[in-house]
Amino acid sequence: MESSSSEPAPECPPEFPSASSAKARTEPPAVRAERVTRVHRDGRRELKSLDQVSLTVSAGEVVAVTGPSGAGKTSLLHILGGLDTGYQGRACVAGTDWQTLHGSERARFRRRTCGFVVQGLALLPQATAAENIEVPLLLDGVAPGARRTRVAEALALVGLEDQGAKLPDQLSGGQQQRVAIARALVNGPALILADEPTGSLDSTTAASVVRLLLAAARERGAAVVLVTHDPQVARHADASARLHSGRLDTPVHESPKE
Ligand SMILES: Nc1ncnc2c1ncn2[C@@H]1O[C@H](COP(=O)(O)OP(=O)(O)O)[C@@H](O)[C@H]1O
Ligand SMILES: [Mg+2]
Repeated sequence: MESSSSEPAPECPPEFPSASSAKARTEPPAVRAERVTRVHRDGRRELKSLDQVSLTVSAGEVVAVTGPSGAGKTSLLHILGGLDTGYQGRACVAGTDWQTLHGSERARFRRRTCGFVVQGLALLPQATAAENIEVPLLLDGVAPGARRTRVAEALALVGLEDQGAKLPDQLSGGQQQRVAIARALVNGPALILADEPTGSLDSTTAASVVRLLLAAARERGAAVVLVTHDPQVARHADASARLHSGRLDTPVHESPKE
């Protein structure tokens, strides 16, 4: 990981490379933020939730972002995932600058490149585990046969091959979060953005869910940005950096891959 608040950053390649050209040249990082600043205006008051944040995460790398409540962690994830484009600076996923995409094109690119895992209440309560995982495939127009195969693979990836027919409230909290992880991975995204994914779980379940998230992402070659306020969760990452009042410190630790 590279992270800094002040270095000049090189430009993102402007285009998402085609499958053939991707092989011929160096792959762009899964995600790159360059001097991202986000200002919120509340009447005459101005609040900077992010201040000159730069961060690069490569394919297969897991970076934890820690920091106290209000530090800007969720704001950063929303910008990295193209959910908020009202910022200054640049944010690119797989070499594509979010600011160059608009409307349905941006939504389609997000579905294909980004998987989100958030804290609690993210599953559709009336839909089974398998149906929840199927949602991104339905939105992308994947054919029924391929959907069944990919949902089964995703359930197996998170160790829930026998639980696909259950509704979320028939599953434990840890199992529900594993369904959310399977849903985030089912489209084969380059990037997983996880916002306090274990915040509602007890510490033993949290540790196993994080291990599973990171193993599943690594198996699929996805990069992960893992937001957490829990230093024990952050320890599972390859590197971590701390956000404080919108500013990102240089990495606070580098640990070998498990
Ligand atoms: N849409 C918004 N309008 C105004 N202020 C916001 C908005 N989104 C975030 N903020 C402010 O930005 C700061 C960072 O928020 P957030 O990114 O949610 O922090 P964290 O996820 O680290 O708890 C907070 O002070 C929050 O109130
Ligand atoms: Mg938050």
